[in-house]
Amino acid sequence: MYSKEVMDHFQNPRNMGAIEKNDSVGNVGNPICGDMMKIYLKVGKDAEEREIIEDISFETLGCVAAIATSSMITELAKGKTLDEAMIIEFKDVENALGSLPPIKLHCADLSVRALRKAIEEYRAALKKD
Ligand code: FES
Repeated sequence: MYSKEVMDHFQNPRNMGAIEKNDSVGNVGNPICGDMMKIYLKVGKDAEEREIIEDISFETLGCVAAIATSSMITELAKGKTLDEAMIIEFKDVENALGSLPPIKLHCADLSVRALRKAIEEYRAALKKD
């Protein structure tokens, strides 16, 4: 029922665990299934002084697809500018994983919301300074 890519990211998750010296954390949950995701960001600058995701990691309590989509979104977002990362959609995560069962598409959506929340938290903290 799960693609080979989903099982690979579930069994060998990329970028798992907290970044202790992070610049922001995006924390989201789905009240229906109870799954929870946290995305940690370390933000840097590229040669053109644009803000980029220098490092990213996740901690997820949830289903196979929640772990796999968290892992994949960290791979998709790493090295991107914050603006580029903000427009990653759940379909991008699903396509990168081959496919997801229809009832698991909300897991990809949760990973997108966690990433966007982390970026929004980072931007909100900058405004307070
Ligand atoms: Fe809800 Fe996977 S079942 S995030």
